[in-house]
Amino acid sequence: MTVRWAFRASILHCIADPGEAGDKAAIEYFDDGLLLIRDGIIEQAGPADRLLPGLSPDIPVSDCREKLIVPGLIDCHVHYPQIDIVASCGTQLLDWLERYAYPAERRFASAEHATEVAEFFTEALLQNGTTTALVFATVHAQSADAIFAAAERRNMRLIAGKVLMDRNCPEDLRDEPGGGLEESRQLIERWHGRGRLEYAITPRFAVTSSAAQLQGAGQLAAAHPDVFVHTHLAENAAEIDLVKRLFPDNSSYLGVYDDFGLLRERSVFAHCLHIDDADRKTLHRKGASIAFCPGSNLFLGSGLFDLRSACEQGVRVGIGSDVGGGPNLNLLKTLSDAYKVLQLNGQSLPGYRALYLATLGAAKALYLDDRIGNFASGKEADFIMLDSASVPMARRRLSRTRNAAEKFFALMMLGDDRAISATYLMGKQAWKAA
Ligand code: GUN
Ligand code: ZN
Repeated sequence: MTVRWAFRASILHCIADPGEAGDKAAIEYFDDGLLLIRDGIIEQAGPADRLLPGLSPDIPVSDCREKLIVPGLIDCHVHYPQIDIVASCGTQLLDWLERYAYPAERRFASAEHATEVAEFFTEALLQNGTTTALVFATVHAQSADAIFAAAERRNMRLIAGKVLMDRNCPEDLRDEPGGGLEESRQLIERWHGRGRLEYAITPRFAVTSSAAQLQGAGQLAAAHPDVFVHTHLAENAAEIDLVKRLFPDNSSYLGVYDDFGLLRERSVFAHCLHIDDADRKTLHRKGASIAFCPGSNLFLGSGLFDLRSACEQGVRVGIGSDVGGGPNLNLLKTLSDAYKVLQLNGQSLPGYRALYLATLGAAKALYLDDRIGNFASGKEADFIMLDSASVPMARRRLSRTRNAAEKFFALMMLGDDRAISATYLMGKQAWKAA
């Protein structure tokens, strides 16, 4: 039996990339709007005065007129096992991995620990308005099982993978030399395409995988053309030097992944701070994507991402929190970091463009824009309700905004998890502020 229901609120979503100018033609905004849902799928979004008269009286309409509904936020790069060391003071990438990330990840040898953290993490995503994420687990296969199971319980769309690493990391966090691949294959069998879940082959970065392991990962990817590849690229100067020493025959860091068959559609590379136009052209030609992680890039002192150049070359870009390298799971705060990073690069990030990076743009980066990212009819009804009532500064600023672009911009600059009043998955409330 078909079930239909509706929400009445202000509604804002992107239908295209608003670009650096924040083009209004790329968004739809209904000040008094109606979001109509059929069996968890968007039927229609439009102005309430046009849609309400034709609506059958037996369809329940939730009156949320003081709220702003936007599509669920999409985190293109996050490490769930690092949630317990988020905001750890003091060092840059390679030292930070040794001091904080690896010790936290070591604890996932316990399946019980993995389940406890996965439960906390998925709940925290919902609390922060994130409805889809591309997630690093740890080297332990059960850490991937735990995050998939937690997402499945909540009917959350999520992509994850067991980390592959077999060198240049603590011994007790290593796959057998060239190994980890059979476990990855089994995880693909178990989880890829199950409900709303998909698998990502996850070599940590070129530093921690032998050539044999990268080659195996590429072969696994070739055998599964529709799974994701998820890794890091060109984040930090010392990391890049190390990759040059480890792979002296490769002209570029990106070339290492390409040589092993890891550069293709659904390959997502976190950071890409220190790349050139030749790399950007290659990323575009191969259909690969960048996860722009400004909170992490500031926190770890890694560098400033060049969004304009990536977009000029047509590369798919979505936003990523990169928790725990990033100090915050909240994508509003991550977007506010993005604005500041781009300012330092002489670039701008208007509100509509920011919304795009966390919704439709991120969905395109993950090749999920046929399912999520905006309120086009037929998409899955993942959305959030924004409300400035519990953020006094945002509330005051919003009372002076003149249009939806200013409203969203103020919410992203001044807001945080307090601005998320509820999160919906497939049209059903999955989280609500107390
Ligand atoms: N590069 C390799 N591993 C990591 C990680 O865990 N976090 C970040 N930010 N960069 C990485
Ligand atoms: Zn990362």
